[in-house]
Amino acid sequence: MRVVVGITGASGAIFGVEFLRRCQAEKYLILTKWGRYVLKEETGLTEHHLAEHVKRAFPDEDLSGPFASGSNPFDALVIVPCSVSTMAKIACGLGDTLLTRTAQVALKERRKIILALRETPLSTIALEQAYKLSQAGVIVAPISPAFYLHPQNIEQMVEQFTDKLLGLLGLETPLAWKPEALE
Ligand SMILES: Cc1cc2nc3c(=O)[nH]c(=O)nc-3n(C[C@H](O)[C@H](O)[C@H](O)COP(=O)(O)O)c2cc1C
Repeated sequence: MRVVVGITGASGAIFGVEFLRRCQAEKYLILTKWGRYVLKEETGLTEHHLAEHVKRAFPDEDLSGPFASGSNPFDALVIVPCSVSTMAKIACGLGDTLLTRTAQVALKERRKIILALRETPLSTIALEQAYKLSQAGVIVAPISPAFYLHPQNIEQMVEQFTDKLLGLLGLETPLAWKPEALE
């Protein structure tokens, strides 16, 4: 499976790092300018620390990157964390950066898109955009912890939400909630 991973300037860079670390796929990274800033601010990491988890990283500013064209196939685009700004651009059909252009390509080619949105509260405009994207087949998966999984710390919360994202991609994850009920 070939997955393009976007990390934007929304809070929650740790979710992007964990997803890159755990997702067993051929991964390509697009880190936005503000994604780079928030990554450093929240985790102390830089783009170089993420390189070991991906096959290649492409600059968001460079629209000549391969995924700007529908001719280069990928199975899914996962943006984690996703800012409302990037979601708005995608919903409006803007493709002025490699990440937003890749999203436009995924939409037109009917490929899977998962947006791990991070913002609160959500404006009416953001809710309308999320609704519009959902109607277009996009999975809008706000970053939100599941307390029934009894996370003991932030790391576990991040791990459990990452399980959710991996499950949405169709990848195998631990059965975290009442697996005994399936016996
Ligand atoms: C420390 C910090 C935290 C931020 N947190 C959020 C957030 O949680 N959600 C959000 O939508 N934007 C957040 N922003 C604002 C975005 O970074 C800003 O809208 C930016 O233009 C997003 O661009 P991008 O989507 O291309 O990365 C934050 C900015 C900073 C500096």
